[in-house]
Amino acid sequence: MSDPHDRFPAGFFDRQDPDDPAFYEPARLVTHIDDAAIAAVGALYTELGIDGEVLDLMSSWVSHFETPPQRLHVLGMNPAELDANPVAAARTVHDLNADPVLPFADGSFDDAVCCVSIDYLVRPIDVVRDVARVLRPGGRFVCTFSNRCFPTKAIRGWLANSDEAHTRIVAEYFRLADVWHEPAVERRTPVTHRGDPLFAVWAVRA
Ligand SMILES: C[S@@+](CC[C@H](N)C(=O)[O-])C[C@H]1O[C@@H](n2cnc3c(N)ncnc32)[C@H](O)[C@@H]1O
Repeated sequence: MSDPHDRFPAGFFDRQDPDDPAFYEPARLVTHIDDAAIAAVGALYTELGIDGEVLDLMSSWVSHFETPPQRLHVLGMNPAELDANPVAAARTVHDLNADPVLPFADGSFDDAVCCVSIDYLVRPIDVVRDVARVLRPGGRFVCTFSNRCFPTKAIRGWLANSDEAHTRIVAEYFRLADVWHEPAVERRTPVTHRGDPLFAVWAVRA
């Protein structure tokens, strides 16, 4: 079977700094987008009813829910950041670029989310496909992102493209994973908003 990542130009998934364990070793207890963009993430989760057993992928000390879901499992690189997440009931340290297979059984969660992080994945289609495996029927995967990033850590294809193109790229990850219904794509902050814009791409498990 051909590799769907090969559908993107050569070098698309390369990064200036490929060493994730070293970069994420220090804890960063910061917010990566402004308050309005954070509020837009939480409002989307509320609107979609992301309130059951939820996996927050590429997580840190904040998960941005307006109301905590029934049970939140956070996965990321830095144990101190994950330990500081007040909403998390369970924490997993796992490098998705070293191993895009999630360390969870099939059908473990109702829904999954990933905030301002999809641009750091070098095998995003493998990860997006495996997210569907760990969701129950009808589960949704909600990816949100802005126009900010760690530039040495983001893939070159992200750095080379516009906000609008990012939404098309993430939607294409879902389509190429071939296990999702057609994704929804939305700009969640108004075009007149002067702070960090917030974009969302989400889909229901096929
Ligand atoms: C910009 S922060 C976003 C954190 C959080 N989602 C938020 O909304 O504030 C990027 C996060 O992605 C995680 N991450 C980066 N590379 C990763 C990898 N290879 N595998 C798993 N998680 C990763 C890091 O642990 C970090 O917490």
